[in-house]
Amino acid sequence: MSEDNFEDRERVETVRLTHQSGMNVEGDIYELVGGKEFFVKLTTKFYEGVASDPILKPMYPEEDLGPAAVRLQMFLEQYWGGPSTYQEQRGHPRLRMRHMPYKINPEARAAWLKHMKAALDAQALPELYHAQIWGYLDRAATAMLNTMED
Ligand code: HEM
Repeated sequence: MSEDNFEDRERVETVRLTHQSGMNVEGDIYELVGGKEFFVKLTTKFYEGVASDPILKPMYPEEDLGPAAVRLQMFLEQYWGGPSTYQEQRGHPRLRMRHMPYKINPEARAAWLKHMKAALDAQALPELYHAQIWGYLDRAATAMLNTMED
C-alpha cells in the first residue's frame, strides 16, 4: 500500500448484507457495531494495554493517555462512518506523517496490534464486523511502519 493511497483515502467502509427476509440491509459499520459506545469501549481498553506496555508507553509525549485515547476514538468513528469530529478538531488525518516522530518498527507494530486485538476481542462483535475491522487495523498498522531497525 503506498503512502499516498493510505493518507488520501477518505473512503468509509460499509458492508452489504441480505436479511433472512430477503430485505437488503445496508449500513455503515459505525451503526452496525453500536455507534459511539463501541468505539469508546474499544479505545479505552486498548489504552489500558498501552499504559503498561514497555515499548509503547514511553513513546507518548503526555503522561495522561486519556486525550490520545479520544483522538484515536474520534478517528476510528469518522473512518467507519460516524461523526467527522476528528477532522473538525485535528484536520486531515495524515496518519503516516503524524507518526513519523515515533520509531515504528515491526516490534512496535506487533505491540500495538496485540493490545488492539485484546480490545477488539473483548467487544465480542459478530464475526463479519470483527473481521472487517481487524483487517483494516492490521493493514493500517503496517502502513505506519517507518523503520525496520531494532
Ligand atoms: C503501528 C503502531 C502504532 C504506534 C506505535 C502508534 C503510536 C502513536 C503515538 C505515540 C501517537 C501520539 C499520541 C498522541 O495522540 O498524542 C499516536 C497518535 C495517533 N495514532 Fe497511532 N500508533 C500506531 C498505529 C496506529 C494506527 C494503525 C492507527 C489508525 C488506525 C493510529 C491512529 C492514531 C491517531 C488517530 C493518532 C492521533 C493523531 C493526532 O490527531 O494527532 N495509530 N500513535
